[in-house]
Amino acid sequence: MLERYKEATKKSKVNWDHALEIFPGGMSHNIRSFGLDRVHVYPPFMQRGEGSHIWDVDGNEYIDYWMTHFSLILGHNYPAIRKTILDQLEQGVHLGTLNEPQIEFGEMLKNAIPYMKLLRFCTTGSDATMYATRLCRLFTGKQLVGKVKGGWHGGNDALCYHLHYPFKDEPFFDGVSFEFNDRNSLDTLLKAHGKKLAAIIIEPVLGAGGGLAPEPDFIPYLREETESRDILLVFDEIITGFRLCFGTAGNQVFGVEPDLVTLGKIVAGGMPLGVYGGREDVMALAAPGAPGGRWVGGGTFSSHHLSMVAGKATLAALKDYKNKYSQLNQRGTKFRKKITAIFDHVQIPAIVTGEGSIVFIHLLKSSLTERYPTASQIGDVFNKTQTDLFQASLIEKGIFGYHGLGGLSFAHSEADLHHTLDVIEKITPHFKIHPT
Ligand SMILES: Cc1ncc(COP(=O)(O)O)c(C=O)c1O
Repeated sequence: MLERYKEATKKSKVNWDHALEIFPGGMSHNIRSFGLDRVHVYPPFMQRGEGSHIWDVDGNEYIDYWMTHFSLILGHNYPAIRKTILDQLEQGVHLGTLNEPQIEFGEMLKNAIPYMKLLRFCTTGSDATMYATRLCRLFTGKQLVGKVKGGWHGGNDALCYHLHYPFKDEPFFDGVSFEFNDRNSLDTLLKAHGKKLAAIIIEPVLGAGGGLAPEPDFIPYLREETESRDILLVFDEIITGFRLCFGTAGNQVFGVEPDLVTLGKIVAGGMPLGVYGGREDVMALAAPGAPGGRWVGGGTFSSHHLSMVAGKATLAALKDYKNKYSQLNQRGTKFRKKITAIFDHVQIPAIVTGEGSIVFIHLLKSSLTERYPTASQIGDVFNKTQTDLFQASLIEKGIFGYHGLGGLSFAHSEADLHHTLDVIEKITPHFKIHPT
């Protein structure tokens, strides 16, 4: 299989060798090798995307489930987004001044997320989570922040720790962590550090940490426990925002309003963007000269003109898809069940996780007894090599993704899904012969 891949991706190989001379590890985002370097090949270099498909520099076509890090719920090269970017380009790329589209886009976001009374734009999701937790520190006068083991909130120093099992790396500063879906772990953390915690930041559905949906009462329990201790709750909805519904999942799907929320990815339709917002009294500390405030925000490219017009076009389009989210979520649920059935049929230990249109596949060393484990439970039995080989097999067969697969978009057709299931059915038996 890897030989066939090499044969079909010769230009990518030349690029990869060249990239290794320029970038540490050959890239500027560690996951863009999609695990292929770990199985001794190289990632394809992509050139073009349209709807649910992408093409690499060698001309190979793929059904894409990576969809630009889960950003493109409308599909690649969505006409209204492309048009608005091209129209704006006629007037300049980014002026670095106030602009009108930011007001209109900000208003659209506020309307979709009623608890977000004030908000700010920044350049990436990493900025957004950094500024959100900085605001929590300023507001509470406390330094410590809690996060979930396996939770990825971007590359900032404040939150870039306890990402990978067994979660032993030292935080850069003032950070603690607990297990997603585990009340005991949360209780232990609160008992030990509750008085010192400024905030807890959490994705309502754990993304890069395993694609784990929350147990039914976990998110409400977290809200009660943080509220009663004056700990601010930040929902990182950079993946889930506008993915599970038109707006945010915390309140609409799981029934909980946070104090602050962060957004990114989907809301700017593929342009770089981070958003942080929420309670008026907390957000007000970001204003210049606010009593008790400090520097929050900045960024040459914050409220980037192209991101603002793309954001407006994305939200306008998604409003038309508002009633189609439940259908997309159901398609995702059905898809996960069908993939699970394929693995069960050939008796290969694997778990398919996610919520709505999010679909992660983990190959395991042994079967799990539960369907909704914590990041550590998955980490204990995760078979990294087999999962990497499975990912490589999918890519060789024209199914592009990461974390096993990735996310569905409104652009994915039934034919895309059928073909993907056929490919999975075809390749899974080969994974039986490999021991751990
Ligand atoms: C949940 C979550 N938060 C934050 C980030 C960081 O966003 P960005 O890559 O735009 O900095 C990501 C990116 O993958 C994410 O998935």
